[in-house]
Amino acid sequence: MKKALVLMTLVSAVSLNAGAAGKIEAGKALVAKYSCATCHGKDFNSPIDPSYPKLAGQHVSYLEHALTAYKRGEAGYGRNNPIMVGQAKVLSDKDVKDIAAYLHSLPATLVLQK
Ligand code: HEC
Repeated sequence: MKKALVLMTLVSAVSLNAGAAGKIEAGKALVAKYSCATCHGKDFNSPIDPSYPKLAGQHVSYLEHALTAYKRGEAGYGRNNPIMVGQAKVLSDKDVKDIAAYLHSLPATLVLQK
């Protein structure tokens, strides 16, 4: 009886964790829906302007942090770039996680070390 209870607790803890991580497929659909590639490039490695950041392969935590900062915007002491504040404010916290998981999964050309 006791063993079964412990097992159930473990199983529910594991599934809660799985729910917290972003879903790559959902993120892919979201970046298509919001046309993020229009500026960041179709492979997220070739932005339309050299001053626009490459996103492919970027760390999940960095992407989540950046998008959350744009969501907060200027008033909330977040990032205040007007283009990205406009893009990010429609995203839910779950959208941010899914998008970060997807962008991180893409092959990167970011230079880690030279
Ligand atoms: C109209 C052009 C445009 C569109 C569309 C756009 N972005 Fe951006 N994005 C930018 C620019 C410009 C920056 C740099 C802003 C700055 O200096 O803070 C940026 C920055 C970012 C960053 C921060 C990257 C870093 O290295 O700090 C992320 C993450 C990001 N965009 C994700 C997205 C996502 C996700 C979408 C779609 C929901 C999107 N962008 C749509 C132009 C765009």
